[in-house]
Formats: sequence, structure tokens, C-alpha cells
Amino acid sequence: MVLNCPVSNAISKPAQTIVPISSLIANRWSPRVFDITHELTHGDVLALAEAARWAPSSNNAQPWKFSILLRGSDEFETISQSGLTGFNQSWAPSSSAYVVVMADRLRPDGNEWDKGTVFYNAGLASAQVVFESEAMGLKAHYMGGIVHDEVQKVLGVDGVWIVNILAIGKQGDISSAPSELQERELAERSRKELSEIIVHGLVR
Ligand SMILES: Cc1cc2nc3c(=O)[nH]c(=O)nc-3n(C[C@H](O)[C@H](O)[C@H](O)COP(=O)(O)O)c2cc1C
Repeated sequence: MVLNCPVSNAISKPAQTIVPISSLIANRWSPRVFDITHELTHGDVLALAEAARWAPSSNNAQPWKFSILLRGSDEFETISQSGLTGFNQSWAPSSSAYVVVMADRLRPDGNEWDKGTVFYNAGLASAQVVFESEAMGLKAHYMGGIVHDEVQKVLGVDGVWIVNILAIGKQGDISSAPSELQERELAERSRKELSEIIVHGLVR
């Protein structure tokens, strides 16, 4: 179900669930039309940072780093120009900020992290940033379509893997967006059936 939110002309696409779930989860989705005039306050940035910091992690190792880059900063603009791939280049630069999610390469004891473990931890922390954005009335969009080496160079960081970038901002009015973007924005959200992903536990 795609709804037009009357206040801002922003699209709402609540998940269709067979029982009610938390509105934070049901209402989160990944828009591509952001309000280019919206700016995050320093308080917003700190709230996103705290949401990331308080994620659980293996042995409480907290094997992650984040760069929060506001639109207009050199890093945001350079990543917009050369750090995104494909369609991401067309819509993400209108968001208010990028949160670059990084995973530590080395464990506290100096040995290499298993990449799967450390990415799992970093992914979990980034989900907290996404849900905090949602709670703040903003939207977040994960981007795996990035140029990892270029992002690493722009940030000047060592000892980490670049995992993902979250584009965060206020949803924009889709009526002035290009038609391809409007089409994607209006597309229905879909998911596999519960029976395809829940191996045990569905049948009483
Ligand atoms: C790890 C990850 C990487 C993603 N990479 C991109 C991306 O590069 N570009 C994009 O437009 N969407 C990207 N997405 C968003 C997905 O396409 C989106 O979450 C999925 O289609 C489900 O839609 P929904 O988030 O609106 O429910 C990514 C999502 C995740 C979790």
C-alpha cells in the first residue's frame, strides 16, 4: 500500500503484516526523494552517533567507526561526485547527511577480525542509526553501491573496511522529482512469504 502523506506530499509505504508490529519497523522504508533544503542540527548528529554507540556487539568490542558527513562538507560533496555507483549518484546527494559505516580490521588483541563477524556487528549498529533516524522523523537509505577505495581515500582512514553508507534526510515532495525516480518511489514494497524465511516456528 502506497499512501500520500497530505502534509508534505511525501510517500508513506507501511509494511503489510499479518499481525501488528512496531510502527518504527512497519513505517521504515528506503526513499530516494529527499528535501535538499533540510539540514541536520548538531543535536540530530549527536543522537545518531549515540544510537550507533549503544548497539550491542561481540564481547562488547564495538568493532566499528562512523563518519557523519553533512551535505555541503567537502567529504560529502566528494563522495557524491566519485564515491557512489549507478543510480545512487542521482538521488543520494539530496539527502542531508551520509553516515559511512566502517568495520575494524583488527580485534582488540591485534589479530584480524573474521570479516563476516565484524560486518555483522557493524550492520547491526547501522540498523540502530536507521531506526533512530525513523524515530526522529527522518528517513535513512542504505547504500552498498559505493566505491569503497574512493570513500576510504576521501576519509583518510586506515585499519577499517568501508561497509556501507547510509543516506539520511527528510523525505521530499515527489511531484517535482524526475519520472524514473517517481516510479521507483511509488513502487510497492514486497517481501518473501513468512513460510519462505521462517524455517521453524510458524505452525502451531
Ligand atoms: C546492505 C544494503 C545495501 C543496499 N544498497 C542499496 C543501494 O546501493 N542503492 C539503493 O538504492 N538501495 C540500496 N539498498 C536498499 C534496498 O534496495 C531496500 O532496502 C530493499 O529494496 C527493501 O526496500 P525497503 O527498504 O524500502 O523496505 C540497500 C539495502 C541494504 C540493507
